Parts: sequence; C-alpha cells; structure tokens
Amino acid sequence: MRLFFALWPDDAVRAQLARWSRELHAVCGGRPTRDENLHLTLAFLGSVEEARAAEVERAASEVAPRVVTLVLDRPGYWKHNRIAWAGASTVPAGLDAFVAELRSALARSHIGFDPKGFVSHVTLLRDAREPKAMPALDPIPWKVDGFALVQSVTLPRGSRYEIRRSWKG
Ligand code: 2AM
Repeated sequence: MRLFFALWPDDAVRAQLARWSRELHAVCGGRPTRDENLHLTLAFLGSVEEARAAEVERAASEVAPRVVTLVLDRPGYWKHNRIAWAGASTVPAGLDAFVAELRSALARSHIGFDPKGFVSHVTLLRDAREPKAMPALDPIPWKVDGFALVQSVTLPRGSRYEIRRSWKG
C-alpha cells in the first residue's frame, strides 16, 4: 500500500487548479494530473504494510492541524523531472511548522518517509516542455483547515488517490 500525507483541495480550489492545469498545458503540453487527484504532498511514506497503517494514523493524530491560508500564485517548472506545478511565493509559517511537526511525529513512531525537504507544490503536468514564458494566472486562495492520509491505488490507466483518513483543524 502506497501512502502519503497531503493537503486535499475543496471543490472550488480543485476547479481553479484544473483551470491552471489547462492553461499551462496549452504552453507546456505533457500529461495532466487528473482533476480528482490534484493535491499537495506534505510527507511521502511510500510502501507501508497494512498492519502498520494504524500506527501511521496514530502518529498523525498527535499533531494539531493548523488553519492557514495558502495563496497559490506561482506557476513553476522543474527541468530535472519535467514537472509543471502550482506553488506559492510565500508559504505561511504555520504550514512549514505543521509539516515539521507531522514529520517529527512520524519519526518518533519510526515511520519512514522521503526525507527530502518540504517544497510546497501541486503537480499539474508531467513530461511537460519548458515554457518560453509562464502564463499569468489568477492567484488561488486556499483555506487550509486540515490534512489527509492518502492511499495511492494503481490502476491500469494510472493511479487513483483515495483518502484513507482526514483530520480537521
Ligand atoms: P510529485 O507530484 O512532485 O511527483 C504521490 O506520488 C505524491 O507524493 C506526489 O505528489 C509526489 O510528488 C509525492 N512524492 C514525494 N516524494 C515522492 C517519492 N519519493 N516518490 C513518489 N512520489 C513522491
């Protein structure tokens, strides 16, 4: 079972991200993330045995969710993995602090996760071309009031993400 913690957008934020994705696709091409899969990863656990899932949930329950507003105002492109993404020029201190607390709680419970530093981004397109210029996009205010433990289910047509449990602030 592949698990990760993420911020899961509400319908309004999801619709705006989907609009960004279409506008970016017009300049970069690539494979869009399916609208229903759009999310922002906080910690990637990877493969976890079913028997340990309860421990993962217990560790996450030790952390109080924060209520913060994250403004996605920056489309970006990474050459090294050809990903086009939605990001924030300013990440609220409360979100960085929350991710640090969540990762500490996981570490205390000896739950492994990808140790790469948190870079807040929503992947919109994979295998995308570097755009000559980024399109101007309307900022997306995202009121974050919780987080989710998400399971990645592999299907013949790609992955589907299912919320296993969510926590509200
Ligand atoms: P990405 O979108 O930048 O690829 C599910 O795979 C989610 O976990 C994606 O948002 C992915 O980020 C993120 N992720 C973080 N570290 C990962 C890793 N080592 N392998 C796969 N996905 C990872």
